[in-house]
Amino acid sequence: MLIVVFVGVLVEAVIASSGLDLWNAAKEGNLTYVDDALRTGISPNWVNQDDYGYGETALHVSSKFNHPTVISALLEAGAEKDQRDDRGETPIFWASMHGSLDAITRLIESGADLDIPDNWGVTPLMTASYRGHLSSVEAMIDAHANVTLSDNDGYTALHYAAGHNRLSIAQLLLSEGADIRKQDNTGRTPGHLAKDEGYIQLQEIIDGITGATSRKVVYGI
Ligand SMILES: *[C@@H]1O[C@H](CO)[C@@H](O)[C@H](O)[C@H]1NC(C)=O
Ligand SMILES: *[C@@H]1O[C@H](CO)[C@@H](O)[C@H](O)[C@H]1NC(C)=O
Repeated sequence: MLIVVFVGVLVEAVIASSGLDLWNAAKEGNLTYVDDALRTGISPNWVNQDDYGYGETALHVSSKFNHPTVISALLEAGAEKDQRDDRGETPIFWASMHGSLDAITRLIESGADLDIPDNWGVTPLMTASYRGHLSSVEAMIDAHANVTLSDNDGYTALHYAAGHNRLSIAQLLLSEGADIRKQDNTGRTPGHLAKDEGYIQLQEIIDGITGATSRKVVYGI
């Protein structure tokens, strides 16, 4: 009986012993464990190169899985808010990809940079537009994310919305001054992408603004 109790105490004492423990607790949203791990001196900026990691920190995974209290604990402990992983993706990029709105809100409050692109030039706003996360797009636009940036293929957030039939997002981007005539690297406007994919309603909205010019524009000019 005494021995069992003693073993229990030992197990308690050795929890939170590695960066990967912290990382996994952040992923699960286990705030108690994250706090314990940080108190034992584990760096909040430990980078996961194990476990099929791509250089993500605990802040990346807690952002992806939408754990705002864990995000706050990590930031208070000195986590780098704009850390880029091996693909150049920041915590807010991950939150945007998954539509993790609470995480996005918390990161914006902490002053995260919304316009840092990944290694392919894709911004958080573009990835949220592509995936159709309207609330995330709204939150980032309210926080002044740049709607006119384009990625390495020349795609803007509006290209991504138009090419994936994200009607409400496209309308929002248009109301925020997204460039309807911006051509990608092969000369295609957002209207072209909507037309190619057969997204009639979206194409009509764009045509309504451009005076139907998108039907006449020739590719490659
Ligand atoms: C948090 O992690 C610890 C250690 O793994 C575990 O004992 C505890 O049950 C977890 N708490 C929750 C709420 O999952
Ligand atoms: C937005 O990005 C464009 C480049 O596409 C840049 O010219 C412009 O200054 C940026 N706007 C702001 C407010 O940073």
